[in-house]
Formats: sequence, structure tokens, C-alpha cells
Amino acid sequence: MKSITISTTIEIYDSLVELPEEVIKLMNTAVEAREKAYAPYSKFHVGAAILLDNNEVISGSNQENASYPSGLCAERTAIYYAGATYPEAIIKRIAISATSVNHAVTTPIPPCGACRQAIAEYEIKQNEPIEIYFMGESGKVAKSNSLKDLLPLAFDKSYL
Ligand code: THU
Repeated sequence: MKSITISTTIEIYDSLVELPEEVIKLMNTAVEAREKAYAPYSKFHVGAAILLDNNEVISGSNQENASYPSGLCAERTAIYYAGATYPEAIIKRIAISATSVNHAVTTPIPPCGACRQAIAEYEIKQNEPIEIYFMGESGKVAKSNSLKDLLPLAFDKSYL
């Protein structure tokens, strides 16, 4: 037996204002998207905004369903729309913001495992890293320089 250690690095910023103007703008678009979330069950509202290399910005929010598993996270709502609308575009970065009707969300909220897998697919497709910024409604902002840092040992097409 041998063990392997996998390490990744995530940058943590004390607040959004520490980031470049274009990132702040993208996060503000994620916040606007978050306000359009349809989340009557969890009351947890998430918005995602994606910047493409053609300068288009695609945003999405979580969309819930009375049949719970039929709902979709904000990140996948946005990334699938981006992939379906601009199949040739490169995804440069994604900004994610979350809030709750029930409590203040002041820590960075990372994308769920299923969303990481979805983002991984696009990163592999385009062979270019996707920057991912995530936060709550206020407070610290986390940045990952590539989806690989959020999902080591991803399942990909090489295993098929
Ligand atoms: N949610 C997202 O939109 N993105 C994530 O990465 C985590 C969870 C949504 C799904 C559901 O509507 C609500 O947050 C609670 O899980």
C-alpha cells in the first residue's frame, strides 16, 4: 500500500473590493441573477454569472421543483445555457453568490459536487482553465484558478 496526497490551492480574499473591477462586475451580475432564483423550498438563493471569451455574460439561478431532484443549481442552469447558446466560446470565469431567506450567508459557498462535475466537462472540452469565484451575500470571496482545484480526481472521458 502507498498513500498519495493531493493538495490544491484556493485563494481567499477578505472582501469583494480586493478583486479587479471586472470580477466585481461579474459577481454583481451573479447577485442580480441570485435575486431571480426560484427557491420556494430551500429558501437558499444562488446566482451564477459566466464570462465568455466573446465577452458575452451568461447568468443563471437555482430553479427548484416540488419534485426536489428535478430542480437545478444556479451554476448548471448558467453553464448549460452558455454551452447550448455559444458552443464554440471559451468560458473564462464564473462568479457565484448565495444567500438565504432564513439566515445571513457570510462565508463563501462552493459549487456542489454535481456542478463541479459539470464545470469539469467544459474545462476539459475547451482545454483552458476556468476561474471560479464564490461567496455568500457578503464577506470573504474564494477563488479557484481552475476547476481542477475544486475537484481533484474528476471522472472524465478518458475513463470511458
Ligand atoms: N444550489 C445551487 O444553486 N448551487 C450549488 O452549488 C449548491 C446548491 C441550490 C440548489 C437548491 O435549490 C438550493 O441551493 C439548496 O440546496
